Amino acid sequence: MENGTKVGFQNGKITMPNGTKKEVILVTGGSGYLGLHLIEALAKGFSSQYDVAYTYQSHPPSPELHQKLPNVHSFQVDLRTGRGLDIISSTLGHPRVVVNCGALSVPRMCEQDPEAAMAINIPRSVVEWLLSQDMSIPPLLIHLSSDQVYEGDKSFYKEEDETKPVNVYGKSKVASENYVKSNYSNYAILRSSIIYGPQPVVPVPKSLPLQWIDRVLSTGDGEGEFLVNEFRCPIFVTDVVRVVELLIAKHAEGGMKLVLNLGGPDRLSRSDMADIVAQVRGYKMELVNRVSTLSMDRGVVSPVDTSMDVTKLVAVLGITLTDFATGIALTFNDKTSVLPKKIETTQLTTTTDKNNNNNNITNS
Ligand SMILES: NC(=O)c1ccc[n+]([C@@H]2O[C@H](COP(=O)([O-])OP(=O)(O)OC[C@H]3O[C@@H](n4cnc5c(N)ncnc54)[C@H](OP(=O)(O)O)[C@@H]3O)[C@@H](O)[C@H]2O)c1
Repeated sequence: MENGTKVGFQNGKITMPNGTKKEVILVTGGSGYLGLHLIEALAKGFSSQYDVAYTYQSHPPSPELHQKLPNVHSFQVDLRTGRGLDIISSTLGHPRVVVNCGALSVPRMCEQDPEAAMAINIPRSVVEWLLSQDMSIPPLLIHLSSDQVYEGDKSFYKEEDETKPVNVYGKSKVASENYVKSNYSNYAILRSSIIYGPQPVVPVPKSLPLQWIDRVLSTGDGEGEFLVNEFRCPIFVTDVVRVVELLIAKHAEGGMKLVLNLGGPDRLSRSDMADIVAQVRGYKMELVNRVSTLSMDRGVVSPVDTSMDVTKLVAVLGITLTDFATGIALTFNDKTSVLPKKIETTQLTTTTDKNNNNNNITNS
């Protein structure tokens, strides 16, 4: 290849053969559920402007993933030590945006190994690596936190409410937020509720919340138990992807310091979720085994009500959030699904984005 026709790397940007430069978006923890949804959407939606890369720890990309997303770069990185991050810099340059999905994300596992939870969930190695480059505005860090930073003793938490986690997972997320706020100057922290939706571009092995409910109800053996008194604001994965895309677009305007609740528009108990799955999927409502205490020990204390006020999310990004029933129908790609006419849930947000009416369906 002649000089000037090679792909090159300069100041964190890829130099393309025709002289145009691409910046890099990196998804750390890109081999997980949300990460895979993100890399697929970003590779499709932002490919003209950005090169998309991701990190994995124990799940290297499968041949199927390579085939489906041939232009996405993958790197093995251990977030506890940062080993592997320098290879990204030396190969692609420093990223313009990092979306940190890397985590020990199962609360029970955090409870069993608090040291690992803190070491993985506090993004120390990523922040130190990002700060090692000299830029007037450091790369945007979009960091995934959790609704479990809240104690869970009231409804509709606002971002400025006190954080008072009841388990190790929540404590590690509070510590991660504090670390980012104290050490970094260009960030968006997303306090996410349960993320639900279809399997990503290649399926992940872990159990997904809607698919689990659907399996329990479809077998009709009454095995599953659904709490009537534990409340969440589950968010459709496509909405999460859209939030990240909007933050990346907003980033072009300059640095940010944002903390946002990331939840769907409905405050639902676990049994409400099962009821709506039953309604949309056409299962008998009697199959929903409603309980106030689980007979099985989950191995971790779970906050009772982490429902969130998402007014700020809607106001800052102008996003329309998908209601739970529609999210179920979209998850199962079920055109014949019966959407209940009126779902008895508590909703706080009413804002809609008139320019963006289809964003729930088309963006990933
Ligand atoms: N999914 C939800 O309902 C939900 C709700 C609230 C908040 N969140 C937060 O959103 C983020 C993404 O969630 P998710 O469901 O996509 O999580 P996930 O499926 O459990 O994925 C976790 C990712 O972290 C990586 N990882 C784990 N340990 C690592 C280590 N030592 N070094 C480097 N990478 C490591 C995993 O890599 P390998 O698999 O390759 O090892 C995987 O890519 C997490 O921060 C989670 O806490 C998720």
